[in-house]
This record gives sequence, C-alpha cells and structure tokens, in this order.
Amino acid sequence: MPGPMKVLLAVGGGIAAYKSAELARLLMQQGHEVQVVMTAAAEEFVRPLTFAALTGRKVLTNIFAIEAAIEHISVAQEHEILAIAPATADLMAKLAHGMADDFLTTLYLAFTGTVMIAPAMNVNMWQHAATQANLETLVKRGHVIVEPGSGYLACGMTGPGRLADPEAIAEAIERAGKKRRDLEGETVLITAGPTQEPLDPVRYISNRSSGKMGYALADAAATRGARVILISGPVHLAPPRGVEVIPVRTAVEMRTAVMEHLPAAGIVIKAAAVADFHLAKVPDQKVKKTAARVSLELDPTPDILAELGRKKGDFLLIGFAAETQNLAQEARRKLESKNCDMVVGNLVGGSDLGFETDDNEVVLISRQGDPIALPRASKRAIADRIFDEILKLRLTRHAADGR
Ligand code: CTP
Repeated sequence: MPGPMKVLLAVGGGIAAYKSAELARLLMQQGHEVQVVMTAAAEEFVRPLTFAALTGRKVLTNIFAIEAAIEHISVAQEHEILAIAPATADLMAKLAHGMADDFLTTLYLAFTGTVMIAPAMNVNMWQHAATQANLETLVKRGHVIVEPGSGYLACGMTGPGRLADPEAIAEAIERAGKKRRDLEGETVLITAGPTQEPLDPVRYISNRSSGKMGYALADAAATRGARVILISGPVHLAPPRGVEVIPVRTAVEMRTAVMEHLPAAGIVIKAAAVADFHLAKVPDQKVKKTAARVSLELDPTPDILAELGRKKGDFLLIGFAAETQNLAQEARRKLESKNCDMVVGNLVGGSDLGFETDDNEVVLISRQGDPIALPRASKRAIADRIFDEILKLRLTRHAADGR
C-alpha cells in the first residue's frame, strides 16, 4: 500500500458517471483524500451533492470554482493523482489536444502528477479512428489507461466501451501511486491461455484456460517497465498495452515461439495451460461419423517447461501448477521435476476460482523458504505479488553468485 494519497477524481459527462460515486466511496474507504472535479456535462448525470456527501468536500464544478475563486494551478499542485473516470470521447479529445475551456481541462494542463484515464462511451465512438488516435496520444504522454470493459452498453449495443469496474479503477490508482518501475531493462517472456490440438480440420481438444492470469502478468510486467513478449494460445482478451503478443494455436507452435524468443528473456513465466496430448498426425479432411464408437490415440505434446528446465541458463524460470487436489505437494513436485525457480500453484476445476474467473488464490513454491500463500485477490493484484517474489528470487540468486 502506498499510503494515503491526494487524489483528484474528475468526473466526465457520461452515463457511467454514477459509477464514479462508487469509486469515490472505495477511495475514501482506502483512506485517500479525494477531491472531486465535475465537468458541466457530468452535472447533468449526477448531482455534485452525491460526491460532496461521499468525500466530505465541496465538489469543484465550473461555477463553484469561479464563485469561490479557486485556482486550477494550486489545486493541480496540491494533488498527486488525477483520475478521470469516466472519460468521454469529447474529454479525451480535449485532453489529447490541450484544449482548456473549463476548470477540468485547465487543471489538466497545470497538473504535473500521474494522470489516469478510464474511458467510457458507445462502442463505435470508442473504436472510431479519431478516439483511438487521441488515446494513442494520451498513452504516449505516459498516462495510465484503464481500458473499458466489454458488455452491454447503455446505448443498447454490446462491445467495448463500458467503464471499467470501480474496483479495477481503484486498484489502478493504488498502483499508479506506487509508480514502480522495478522491471525496467528486463525482458519477460510469458505464455498464456490454452492450446488447441486439432483432431481434424474442424475439431480440436482444448481446456478451460481463459488466459486471464497470463495476461494479468503481462500487464503487470509492462506497467513496471519490462519489455514483455506474450505468447498466447487462443483467448478472448484484448492484448495489454505495450506488450508484444505472439498468437499461437498448438503446443508445438507454442514451443517453437518460446524457443525463438528465449535468448532475449531474463524471466520466463509459463502460465499457459498447454494440452498434454495431441494427435501426432491430423487428418486432412473432416472425420465422418461412420462408426458407432471411436477411440483416439493421442501422443504426448512437447513439455515446454521441462525442456526449458533442462536448458536452464541465466533466466529465471517460473512454472504454473493447476491442480484439483494436493496443491502444495504437486507444485513442489513440478518445481523439482521441471527444474523451475518458482512454481505458482492454483486450485482449478471448481466454479469459484482458477479458470475463467477474475480472482485467484495461489501458493508460491520456491527453493528458498516456506511456501507463500497469496490470499484471494484479483488476478492483476496477484500478478504484482508474483513479480515482487520473482524480484526477491533474483536478488538472492545474485547474492549467492556473488554478483
Ligand atoms: N507445461 C508445458 N508444456 C506441456 C505441459 C505443461 O510447458 N506440454 C507447463 C505449463 O505451462 C505449466 C506447467 O507445465 O507451467 C505445469 O502444467 P500442468 O498441466 O499443471 O502439469 P503437467 O506437466 O501436465 O503435469 P500433470 O499432468 O502431472 O499435472
């Protein structure tokens, strides 16, 4: 925890403005000082009184700022983080181009701290080239973007554009406050998602991995300054910003991509749920329903992690153990048998945690010390804790090598 921060929470004029009330409440609960700024358009959606009651502070609206002679420059200087949620397409355009025609946009230009933007808008507006170009400008400026989620939008359409959950935005504010860049100069190779092993041109064997844990690790590493190469099986996730994604389908393809990029990597994390078996020779044509019963003869896929463990050069090797029982023992067994530096064990197969979910609960097993149990948290928060431990491993290893 970075401790209490002075947060400026800027609310733009979108339907999602009501969710910012929950965000304000969460930030207050975490002990931060929250000063809300509202655009005139935001006031059309939510009354400033709501935010004033939640934060115990008068909300800075255009009119109030003029009447009370509140100066945007001093407000800018007094705060560490400017979180804009929801950021509308119009607001993003104004910020990108430095237009300053109201209290918030003038405040933005005077602000020198960390800026975090959580956009929310109609899917077509979000995907429009103009919005995407403005987004790119804001990313290049070093602002933290909390990507909108996909789902049913108030306009009746479905797709990306929905404001990220208040919990996720609050978490991003916490992280932004830490300003950790402790993976700068590091190259991290991560595998994620399932693999698909074809049985014929239309059928395949796969598993329930969603890729969320691997993508969270990639996002965490990139945020902390690493170059990230993400070798991903087929998933339905947006690539994290600033990450090189290499899409693959089968275990064999994943192995080839891993070996190709290995020389660049200092940290290798095998979060992928690689299929253990495949058809060595896939028929060219669709298999017809001719017999009452068929049996499949499958061959083992290459065990990528074990191969990396045998190579074991200078890189740190982190494996995953997805288990339905005996978690710690199985994770320890894989640590030894695959010669890893650390294994992240998680229980899967239930409905509550593991595959497909946003939360996880894991145990970290390494050669030094006792297992570290990480209690239930979002996969993104778990990802940061995993990197904290990886960096500790690196330090102890360097100390042992006398480096
Ligand atoms: N793994 C791999 N290549 C494979 C199978 C697994 O690289 N062909 C890696 C996974 O990415 C993961 C680790 O090995 O990091 C453990 O995967 P898991 O499926 O839990 O273990 P298995 O090796 O399949 O062992 P078991 O079947 O005994 O559980």
